[in-house]
Amino acid sequence: MQEDNEILTENAENIQTPAAATIDRAPAAPAGSIAAQVDRRRTFAIISHPDAGKTTMTEKLLLYGGAIRLAGSVKARKATKHAVSDWMDIEKQRGISVTSSVLQFEYDNYCINILDTPGHQDFSEDTYRTLMAADSAVMLIDGAKGVEAQTLKLFHVCKMRGIPIFTFINKMDRAAKNPFDLMQELEDVLGIKSYAMNWPIGTDGDFQGVYNRRERQVELYEGGNHGQEQAKTITAAVDDPELGRQLGSYYHDRLVEEIGLLDMAGDELDIDAVLAGAQTPIFFGSAMTNFGVKTFLEHFIKMAPCPHGKEAAGEVHVDPVSTPFSGFIFKIQANMNPAHRDRLAFLRITSGKFEKGMEVWHTRTGRKIRLTQPTQFMAQERTIIDEAYAGDIIGLFDTGLLGIGDTLSVDNQNLRFEGMPVFPSEHFARVQYADAMKRKQFQKGIEQLSEEGAIQVFKQIDIGVETLIIGAVGVLQFEVLEHRLKGEYGVEIRMQQLPYHYARWLEDQSIDPHDLTLTSSTLRATDRDGSKVLLFENEWGIEWAIDKNKNLKLLDCKVET
Ligand code: G4P
Repeated sequence: MQEDNEILTENAENIQTPAAATIDRAPAAPAGSIAAQVDRRRTFAIISHPDAGKTTMTEKLLLYGGAIRLAGSVKARKATKHAVSDWMDIEKQRGISVTSSVLQFEYDNYCINILDTPGHQDFSEDTYRTLMAADSAVMLIDGAKGVEAQTLKLFHVCKMRGIPIFTFINKMDRAAKNPFDLMQELEDVLGIKSYAMNWPIGTDGDFQGVYNRRERQVELYEGGNHGQEQAKTITAAVDDPELGRQLGSYYHDRLVEEIGLLDMAGDELDIDAVLAGAQTPIFFGSAMTNFGVKTFLEHFIKMAPCPHGKEAAGEVHVDPVSTPFSGFIFKIQANMNPAHRDRLAFLRITSGKFEKGMEVWHTRTGRKIRLTQPTQFMAQERTIIDEAYAGDIIGLFDTGLLGIGDTLSVDNQNLRFEGMPVFPSEHFARVQYADAMKRKQFQKGIEQLSEEGAIQVFKQIDIGVETLIIGAVGVLQFEVLEHRLKGEYGVEIRMQQLPYHYARWLEDQSIDPHDLTLTSSTLRATDRDGSKVLLFENEWGIEWAIDKNKNLKLLDCKVET
């Protein structure tokens, strides 16, 4: 591993993308300064559909950073999987099966923070919210499957934020879709232009390697070694006869033709468009066999942006370097220790340097709090840290004061970052306590869980009597709700699934929902803050509402203030 790292570092220095020149700040900030620390940080999330290979890719990235110090990646993978599943089991026992971690590692003097977005059945609002803390996203796509449902949802959140998206088309060691079709799919389904940084040779299960368009180099795929050795490369222009001899005429002729087509019909790489989230650089590779992962990482760190600050209320731009420490809470994980009801608040540092024991303003309450036990994350391990910088994520132990979207600042009592969006629930259930004696505990539990953002609470308004409706982004949230209410608050509940799948807020909150013409299956409700919202069973209901009510505007996402 040590040896690998040396080779990687050496190679990384040779990489010259046009982006490097455009993006790297010049002149370089003095080493050790806040500016230098911010410059070298890359904070991103991997978005993908379950089984596309996110775990594998994350592990391989960690491997390059030397964060997993095991001899073989197969072994490392098994070990990581084991560790992760252990961690999940512990979480389950505590009634929390929803968890997302933050992994930090160093590579070639860059400090990389990967935000893990929970997928599978535990897909929840947390998954979306994590993207609020990322400066860029890596979209991982299974080459045989193309854009899948969950990727699409997460992509929309990234698009809404306008963050750069880098695409890795995975599993190229197997038969995959035609790469031109994949590029077209990105444009048709996601509405994003793309630029292929490299091009696969042999996509019918006969993968030969990739042609790096910018460096005019073929990386040959030899398979089977699971990435423990450097891939063999041939540096040559695409039409070089020597390349033809090495690849064989079948693959070479095809490559020449395809690169010609790409050069002629494809878009140019446009770094400004990439940074604005309008164009995505595509890399083809195979995470499992480690093929193309290093190339991807090295281009990614040079092209992806470092933290660039955030807008706050009053049209204030918080600069990551010149503004002293500030940050916002994007996730809360409660009851790590059921005996104490403590909570871990995840804070994304927006500006400046964080130091252990720092006293900061908590804008929402106007109180000063001391941050004594900040935690940083490495896989399932948590370590107390002494300092961190803009771009980093730290965990703060909290006794119930901190909430999602809260701003902390060392010197500005009134600093308030823009609110966190509330993402629409897609599953709804009517929930009631089974035992009337437990009403208070029930209310407390529901309030706590909705503060954490694990569930959304709605009240039905059109029948006179208010009944409680719980909304969740993923169905597993209902199980978590049931489990946690019982385990932590001693409350048994009765739950009835409802047929709604879409929540839409009224843009004009002065409208009385009773005045609206709606289908009989549309439910009029209010959310936790009393904002008016409609619950629909299907898209047809939404269209009907818009059609029948002149000037009605519906929002699929609400920003909390
Ligand atoms: P996820 O976190 O996105 O859900 O995916 P994960 O990494 O767990 O990968 C899902 C499956 O896809 C795994 O197989 C994994 O080995 C496989 N995979 C990941 N990357 C590649 C790749 O580049 N090529 C190929 N051919 N397969 C890949 P599994 O059988 O479910 O698990 P395991 O037995 O390999 O551990």
